[in-house]
Amino acid sequence: MKNPRQFFQPLAVGAPAPPQQLPVRLERMIHFVPPHIEKVRAKVSTLIQQVDVVLGNLEDAIPVDAKEAARRGFIEMAHANDFGATGLWTRINALNSPWALDDLTELMAEIPNKFDVVMLPKVDGPWDIHYLDQLLAQLEARHGARKPILIHAILETAQGVNNVEAIATASPRMHGMSLGPADLAASRAMKTTRVGGGHPDYRVLSDADPAAAGAPRASAQQDLWHYTIAKMVDACAAAGIKPFYGPFGDFSDPAACEVQFRNAFLMGCVGAWSLHPSQIDIAKTVFSPDPAEVAFARKIVTAMPDGAGAVMIDGKMQDDATWKQAKVLLDLARLVAEKDPEMASRYGL
Ligand code: GLV
Ligand code: MG
Repeated sequence: MKNPRQFFQPLAVGAPAPPQQLPVRLERMIHFVPPHIEKVRAKVSTLIQQVDVVLGNLEDAIPVDAKEAARRGFIEMAHANDFGATGLWTRINALNSPWALDDLTELMAEIPNKFDVVMLPKVDGPWDIHYLDQLLAQLEARHGARKPILIHAILETAQGVNNVEAIATASPRMHGMSLGPADLAASRAMKTTRVGGGHPDYRVLSDADPAAAGAPRASAQQDLWHYTIAKMVDACAAAGIKPFYGPFGDFSDPAACEVQFRNAFLMGCVGAWSLHPSQIDIAKTVFSPDPAEVAFARKIVTAMPDGAGAVMIDGKMQDDATWKQAKVLLDLARLVAEKDPEMASRYGL
């Protein structure tokens, strides 16, 4: 194990010090764009006003013959726009691919002070993070980066899930993690062909009634991703980094997307990917706390200003622990309100 005294030391002479705390930022949706498409790049300036994070995707879904164009397109869109409070991230290719090294060296040479986070796919263990950590430090030092680039891992291999806690604590650059249900399904040999979401055949059936042979039995679909999201949320919360739901591939089913996002939100995730413009508003709605919940949270905090003791509100017992839950909702509502005047008025902030 690394000596704790060295954990926050830069890994290269001249690189900026790694962060001790994550920047406080609203990241309800990470909006994916394919940067090799000029028409898409032309819309980035509008997108910046609509989303919390713009991500230039260089990995899966970018055709092999467009990999270099995507990298160049990302550099171009980074130069061409002022992102303000909106995050600019990239998803590089996997470390064992022919493109990852050039993705990093070219991006760091051209835009070392323009993007915030590298999303790393197919992370199997802390060794992947250590490699990227060291390489980023060298490139930051060489190209005069003023602030450290953060790392966001995709949890999308069975080995990665086994090592999730070690991944979460592998570097002070760790920003967070996203569930990658498509690659993870393949890695685990799950019998699905979907990008996230549920499956109608994954269900439980109520007991048969011996007095009513053959009568229909109640049955309910279960959440295929519950276990992994729970494991990821615990690993991230324990490490002080952020968990995200990843992609939902059925653009024709906004209701199912909303439910999947909401389950993740309720379990502790802070955001999800939007792969289609229609998913931006879904993520915005789901990952901004419900005004009624915020109003109730405010009642708790008002009734117990110092967070101690116990009170009854609307027949429900409140104590130190519910005060802390209320603080989570209120802190998030304040963050949303800073960015969104309409939500600010709905929260009464
Ligand atoms: C995302 O990359 C996934 O594989 O689901
Ligand atoms: Mg993937």
